[in-house]
Amino acid sequence: MRKKIVAGNWKMNTDLESGKKLAVEVNQLIAEKGNPEVKVVLIPPFTHIFAVLNSVNSQRIEIGAQNCSSESKGAFTGEVSVEMIKSIGATHVIIGHSERRNYFKETDEMLNKKTKLSLEIGLTPIFCCGETLEQRNAKNHFSVVEEQLNKGIFGFEKNDFEKIVIAYEPVWAIGTGLNATPEQAQEMHFFIRNLISKKFGNETAENISILYGGSCNAANASQLFANQDVDGGLIGGASLKANDFLGIINAF
Ligand code: 13P
Repeated sequence: MRKKIVAGNWKMNTDLESGKKLAVEVNQLIAEKGNPEVKVVLIPPFTHIFAVLNSVNSQRIEIGAQNCSSESKGAFTGEVSVEMIKSIGATHVIIGHSERRNYFKETDEMLNKKTKLSLEIGLTPIFCCGETLEQRNAKNHFSVVEEQLNKGIFGFEKNDFEKIVIAYEPVWAIGTGLNATPEQAQEMHFFIRNLISKKFGNETAENISILYGGSCNAANASQLFANQDVDGGLIGGASLKANDFLGIINAF
């Protein structure tokens, strides 16, 4: 059975002290009253990963990075490699977040390379896909997502593909307060699972976790997670408040 996952993407927020404080609070709340069936991943900025790791129970909470280099090592000033991320104790890495695609012009080809490197070293890629409002209004949302998946991750061998977590994050829902409706989320997640089934078979499709992201909060999470094909969330803003994040973890 596929895993339920709630991952908190802190983006470029918190300094070291406030990040550690948040991690300690989240850790405590989860220990006291977190749904034990949900895998929890905290994804702080690179600079805080080590401290956050040491502030939580690593048996209960896993840590991820928000990005990685598409190169494995060498003269790439400012880049962070998958090897560095793995060596610090993180287990997950977000790849292809729309903010990386849009602001930093990351291409499908780069994202494919990043995913490949992550899989090779044993990090779990959280591969993001999702359409803009313009693309949805033009009714191109399914083809946009299909192309992102085709170019990014559908070329891997089945045993590698099965290690990936997918996050559907419609760009228009990110940070806007306007989440996808439960119907819109379910429709796209079902579409994605169907694509996986056609490409890799039904068993693989049934085992892949597909997370929803975009203005998901403690108030709307239970309606979103109640859908058959929504296996959890990739949470931005609401992951910066420990109680809100706990509310999402307990929304299943
Ligand atoms: P918000 O939850 O702030 O909309 O962000 C979602 C997101 O981009 C998570 O990766």
